[in-house]
Amino acid sequence: MYLLIIAAIAALVLIVKIYQKLTCAFCRSSAHMVGKVVIVTGGNSGIGLETAKNLAERGARVILACRSARRALAAKEEIIKFSGNTDVHYVPLDLSSFRSIKEFSEHIQKTEKRIDVLINNAGAGGLGNYKTEDGLHVGMQVNYFGPFLLTCLLLPKLKSSAPSRIINLSSVIHKYGLMDFDNLNMEKYWSDYLVYANSKLYINLMTLELSERLRGTEVTVNAVHPGIAATNIFRNIPIAIVRTMVEKAIGFMFQSPVEASQTAIHLAAAREVAGVSGRYFSNCRQTQPSKISQDLDIAKKLWTHSARLVKYSESD
Ligand SMILES: NC(=O)c1ccc[n+]([C@@H]2O[C@H](COP(=O)([O-])OP(=O)(O)OC[C@H]3O[C@@H](n4cnc5c(N)ncnc54)[C@H](OP(=O)(O)O)[C@@H]3O)[C@@H](O)[C@H]2O)c1
Repeated sequence: MYLLIIAAIAALVLIVKIYQKLTCAFCRSSAHMVGKVVIVTGGNSGIGLETAKNLAERGARVILACRSARRALAAKEEIIKFSGNTDVHYVPLDLSSFRSIKEFSEHIQKTEKRIDVLINNAGAGGLGNYKTEDGLHVGMQVNYFGPFLLTCLLLPKLKSSAPSRIINLSSVIHKYGLMDFDNLNMEKYWSDYLVYANSKLYINLMTLELSERLRGTEVTVNAVHPGIAATNIFRNIPIAIVRTMVEKAIGFMFQSPVEASQTAIHLAAAREVAGVSGRYFSNCRQTQPSKISQDLDIAKKLWTHSARLVKYSESD
């Protein structure tokens, strides 16, 4: 009996692994990025690091927007070694602080002539239940409100650099998010899982509304489910043995960080997607996000509420 159960689990794991390997797509574009300026938030780890390495190899000037100088400088060194491109830079950014987001954006406005690609890659799970210095739920701010404000503040430069691209890292988990306008800041009810799911649902809705606002500007914005990969994203699982088991199982069954970076790379570099906006991609292909992610009225309403919560007005 036990042998049968073990055999069934092993068969299931193998089926998932084979399915993953068959469906996982690689960016086929050989487009170079010489002369392009790319910002990758959280470019020091996991999917962001692999994305930054690939775009540096294509010749882009890469700006790593990261919160830890130590981790960012180590990543910078790794990217330069991998790509041979020395035009890689670290600029501090902590998405859990609006002050840091504003300082980052002011620095970029002053020092960069252009932004060709903004990749809102940074994200975290399991951050707990407390508010940032800005009064927002920490997980919601790092994964959604922070990237929302950052994008708004960088829009003038993205517009003046057009054609330019914004890429927002979402997740298939957005399908379990709840759209409750009375609980945007997780004050009525919360769980770590719901925070993550809601933040990714809101990222999709932000993508949709922003694509409407950017009509006619040649600035595109798309959302990405990168796949499932054993990165540092699981570091906040509290029990060490569970964390190790999750990481090992995901590492074996699902994608490597290199594989999981392909869709963001495709959206940043490929000529085929020039002009495509407001869409959701996975495995380098357009696919359908949840129904609610495609609701323009909800997207518009969420934009208005988000702008109020991050205290952003278009005159800023
Ligand atoms: N891995 C998956 O299975 C998976 C699946 C679906 C979606 N995603 C999404 O893919 C994106 C990349 O995740 P990953 O898997 O590569 O995870 P990761 O290895 O943990 O990388 C996340 C990055 O975000 C940064 N970050 C976290 N909090 C930040 C803050 N307050 N300010 C600035 N940067 C911050 C991290 O910086 P530190 O190193 O300083 O912490 C790190 O560089 C995330 O948006 C994630 O939600 C991942």
